[in-house]
Amino acid sequence: MAGNKFFNRNIISIRDFTVDDFTYLFDLTDKIQTLSSSERGEIAKGLILGYVFYEYSTRTRLSFESAMASIGGRSLGISDIDSSSIMKGESYADTVKTISLYSDVVLIRHPSDGSSRYASEISDKPVINGGSGSEEHPTQAMLDIYTIFKEKKKINGLTVGIIGDLKYGRTVYSLIYALSLYDVNIHLVSPATLKIRNESIYDISNKVKMFNHTELTDDLLKKLDVIYVTRIQKERFPDLQEYKKIQGLYTIDESILKRSKSDVSILHPLPRVDEISTSIDNTMNAVYFKQASYGKELRAALLSALLHEEPF
Ligand code: CP
Repeated sequence: MAGNKFFNRNIISIRDFTVDDFTYLFDLTDKIQTLSSSERGEIAKGLILGYVFYEYSTRTRLSFESAMASIGGRSLGISDIDSSSIMKGESYADTVKTISLYSDVVLIRHPSDGSSRYASEISDKPVINGGSGSEEHPTQAMLDIYTIFKEKKKINGLTVGIIGDLKYGRTVYSLIYALSLYDVNIHLVSPATLKIRNESIYDISNKVKMFNHTELTDDLLKKLDVIYVTRIQKERFPDLQEYKKIQGLYTIDESILKRSKSDVSILHPLPRVDEISTSIDNTMNAVYFKQASYGKELRAALLSALLHEEPF
C-alpha cells in the first residue's frame, strides 16, 4: 500500500503519529488478514525480530513473535534477563547494541521511562517500545484504537471511560494521547491516590475533553460507549499496604453491565487480576480477548510496514 510512513521508523511514543498514520496502519491490518498464509509468509522471509524484556510480558512478546512468524520472519531475544549477560553486569547500551547486530528490528520492554528513546539512539535498527516504565506502550494504544474502531465503526463522537490505575498504567497515557487526536469525551475514573499524572497530559488537556471521577456512578455508566479497564500496577507501588487499600475497588461485573449502555464495549490491555469478573467473559460487551488477538494482526501489519517501504 502506498503512503507508508512507518518504514524504517522507531516506534517510541504514540505522540509521534497522526490520525492519517493510524488510518494507514488500520487499513494495512485489515488487508494483511485477507492474504493467504503463503502470501503472508513471504513478507519478512529472512528477517529477524530481536527483543529484550526487562519486565514480564505475555501478550506483547508472544503477539510480536506470532506476528513475525506469520509474515515469514524469525524472532530471537531475551525474555528472562536472569539467563543473559545482563546478570554479569552488561550495560543496557551494550545489550541493545548487541541485539541490533543480530536482528532487523528491536523490541524492548524496560521499567524506566525514556528507555526506548535511549535505545533508539544506540541501535542502528528501528526500535519498538514494548512498554517503558509508567510512560508509554505505543503499540498497545494502536491496537486499542483499532479495536474501538472495529467495534464502534468510528472514533469521533465516542465517550470513553478509562478506569483503574491511571497513575502508573502506561497503556493509559498512550491511549489518552492517541484519543486526543480525535473528537472524543474521556472520563477518567480512579481512586484519588491513583489519579492521572497531570504533568504528563498538561499539553493535551485543552485538545480533548477530560473529566475526573473517583466513582463509577450510574449517571456516568449511562454515558460510556467504551469502558477501558486497567489493572492496579502492584509492582510500581512503593508501599504494598497502599495497594491493598484499593485492590478490587472497581470490578466490572454483571451488575455494572446492567447499569451501562447495552452495547458498551469493555476493553482491557490485560493481564487482569480482579478488575473484570470472568462471569462477563462470554457477553457481547467483553472485547478484551478479541483486542488481544487484534494485537497479533496489527503488529504483523506494523512489522511489515517497518521492514518494507511497500509492505505487501
Ligand atoms: N498488554 C500487555 O502489555 O500485556 P503483557 O504485559 O502481557 O505484554
